[in-house]
Amino acid sequence: DPTTTLYERMGGDKTIRTIVEAFYPRVQQDPLLAPLFPADIQPVMERQYQFLTQFFGGPPLYSHIHGHPRLRARHLPFPITPERAEAWLRCMSAALDDANIEGELRDEIWSRFYFTAAHMVNQPGEEE
Ligand code: HEM
Repeated sequence: DPTTTLYERMGGDKTIRTIVEAFYPRVQQDPLLAPLFPADIQPVMERQYQFLTQFFGGPPLYSHIHGHPRLRARHLPFPITPERAEAWLRCMSAALDDANIEGELRDEIWSRFYFTAAHMVNQPGEEE
């Protein structure tokens, strides 16, 4: 049904929680990503939960609390290379596996993550 949001089709709040909880332990294990994140990951998880809820068409939890996401600007303090964007996407792909998201729904979600991750790149890569 094209009138339902991606948020509803993916299973709403429960699925967003599952993705966030599957994603950050992987980020913390990743050699390229871990150094960028604080040891206390809980507040980051909470903001990502709020953000993804609205990103996929659920209630605007993030903006209600933090204002406009300005996602690229908020990432500028961190050196995000193409390699780090790929690492982020690998962690997210595994998180989508954990949430059992498959098929066309996964493709739709994936293209939004893929595009947004590419948009966050703010440093050149190691290789030419
Ligand atoms: C925050 C890294 C892509 C959403 C952060 C933080 C880092 C980071 C280091 C700050 C954590 C802290 O508070 O100390 C990265 C890297 C990416 C990436 C390396 C690779 C491309 C994305 C993407 C999204 C996203 C694709 C959304 C789809 C967020 C959100 C926050 C955040 C919502 C919290 C912003 C806030 O402070 O309110 N990210 N990120 N990030 N990231 Fe990313």
